[in-house]
Amino acid sequence: MKLKNLQNSKLSKKKIIKKSIIVTGAGGYVGSVLVPMLLKKDFKVIAIDKFFFGKTLPKNRNLRLVRKDARNINSKYFRNIYAVIDLVALSNDPSGNKFPELTWQINYQSRLRTAKISKEMGVKKYILPSTCSVYGNQKKIVSENSKTKPLSIYAKSNLNAEKDIIKLKSKSFVVIVLRQATLFGYSPRMRFDLAVNGMTEGVYKNNLLPIMRNGLQYRPLCHVRDSSRLMVKLINQNLIKYNGQIFNVGSKLCTEKIINIAKIVLNNTNKNAELKWYGNLDNRSYKVSFIKLKKLGFKPKYSINYGVKEMVKFLKNNKIKKNLKSITIKWYSHLDSKGKFLRKI
Ligand SMILES: NC(=O)c1ccc[n+]([C@@H]2O[C@H](COP(=O)([O-])OP(=O)(O)OC[C@H]3O[C@@H](n4cnc5c(N)ncnc54)[C@H](O)[C@@H]3O)[C@@H](O)[C@H]2O)c1
Repeated sequence: MKLKNLQNSKLSKKKIIKKSIIVTGAGGYVGSVLVPMLLKKDFKVIAIDKFFFGKTLPKNRNLRLVRKDARNINSKYFRNIYAVIDLVALSNDPSGNKFPELTWQINYQSRLRTAKISKEMGVKKYILPSTCSVYGNQKKIVSENSKTKPLSIYAKSNLNAEKDIIKLKSKSFVVIVLRQATLFGYSPRMRFDLAVNGMTEGVYKNNLLPIMRNGLQYRPLCHVRDSSRLMVKLINQNLIKYNGQIFNVGSKLCTEKIINIAKIVLNNTNKNAELKWYGNLDNRSYKVSFIKLKKLGFKPKYSINYGVKEMVKFLKNNKIKKNLKSITIKWYSHLDSKGKFLRKI
């Protein structure tokens, strides 16, 4: 064989060996954006989920769907896996308050178990997508080293997962924790229970902007595509020097008081819409430093303005609409009332 042909055949062989990634909770809001990105980058993906939100992932020969409860995943799936992105969770405070035991089991115990299996099975990287809500209520700008003040079972279970999973790091097992800001933007598993998404839909549909009392609470935000882009970048990047570290994920430009987020939504939809106040005083308020994220060489791309405009486009095209499924707590409560939700194990 000529040298050039030999080189070409070696190259194509190299291309054929794809790295495999396990994504838990892959059919959720983040997973449905992240998994297509991973597939586009030529990774093989094993998507483990109970798929409570239905078919949100594309058909692809490099994607394997595993409909299993993350709390007792079998270690056989972890053979020859390069990285695990452990998204699975009951993913907000209302769900945590309604299903506290399940939240503890899934967000903390199950992810700790998955991380332990990953390490035992020789997985190289484990990424834990946690939440900035571990900061709770803070007056000063908080960094990854600041004291945490988790106010809900959702935040506490995430914080416990962070603490115990970081302890598992070793030379051959890299652990990275991402404290994501509140996300916004389009996903095939649409969530209208997230601030920007809910406000945009409310104005578009009813000229009413739902806003949580008293509007003065600070909320850092991040587009769901930015948080997914970061996870893809981490899979590709050498992370040894960041092993066991925590990163806040979001940007200063996307940190606003809730009332200002409402103004941005109104400016991009209908300035004359009415504010519809709801809830008791929201105790969560935090301004977060994202300086450390820059060290990873990552910069979020999408502004709140962009996210709102994009969502209006999708609402106009009927590509997304608010229903029971798009409000996490309502959908889980509905499934539970039909006996189709999770049981305690
Ligand atoms: N969306 C946000 O604004 C945000 C912000 C910060 C952190 N996070 C974190 O990011 C992760 C993903 O969030 P999301 O918005 O995609 O949530 P989501 O609720 O849309 O997705 C969670 C997925 O987990 C699945 N699931 C739940 N319990 C399961 C179980 N026991 N076994 C198997 N599958 C199960 C659900 O079917 C769902 O597809 C979560 O850990 C969440 O806490 C999200």
